[in-house]
Amino acid sequence: MNNDFYSAIRHRRSYYAIDNTPIVSDEKIKEIVDFAVKYTPSAFNSQSARVIVLTGKSHENLWQLTKETLQKVVPPDSFSSTEEKLASFRNGYGTILFFEDQAVIQGLQKKFELYKENFPIWSEQSSGMLQFTIWTGLELEGFGASLQHYNPLIDDEVKKNSMYLILGYLEPKCLLENHYKNQEKKNTRLLKNIFTIINKNYACSQSARFSC
Ligand SMILES: Cc1cc2nc3c(=O)[nH]c(=O)nc-3n(C[C@H](O)[C@H](O)[C@H](O)COP(=O)(O)O)c2cc1C
Repeated sequence: MNNDFYSAIRHRRSYYAIDNTPIVSDEKIKEIVDFAVKYTPSAFNSQSARVIVLTGKSHENLWQLTKETLQKVVPPDSFSSTEEKLASFRNGYGTILFFEDQAVIQGLQKKFELYKENFPIWSEQSSGMLQFTIWTGLELEGFGASLQHYNPLIDDEVKKNSMYLILGYLEPKCLLENHYKNQEKKNTRLLKNIFTIINKNYACSQSARFSC
């Protein structure tokens, strides 16, 4: 993580054209996530964020589950485009799920009655900060990612999950630079290897865990 902070922020974008080439080891991904979870601030220092990293079969299963769930609610004549989109996410290297531990939030609500209404909002805000940190950290490693929200549709199936970030590989950086110069955003998305990030608040009493 030795790239320039501002440069990383500038280069982080939503990348949708992805594949599953491993850019760094799963251990390194876990390290990035651990780091972000540890150092990203949270309201009242709640540390209520819970993150799950899915790669390999777990990642594929999540997108299969999402497809099956959406198939039940999306009209058949428009499902092919949905299916295509979901397949593009499954093509990535992995998925990161973001949760907020609702037991922690409820505990704070009880303890600080005056701010009761604010804790769920602050929880979302803290989660957003974490998502951005991880998204940008992955960009530094060369992954491209996008943020997706399939909640609450897949909540019952995923049960304990929250938010999805799709990660991938950015190549080469100069394409991105040209993109900014030429204002041709779409042409710069010639990227490989991505993850997917999914986001949602969900009751999750487990502590941060990883399945790499
Ligand atoms: C809170 C939040 C929710 C988002 N949800 C989605 C989403 O569900 N699907 C998606 O494709 N992009 C989603 N995005 C990505 C934004 O559309 C994207 O970041 C924005 O258009 C700017 O483009 P950039 O990421 O390339 O800079 C989300 C971004 C944020 C901050």
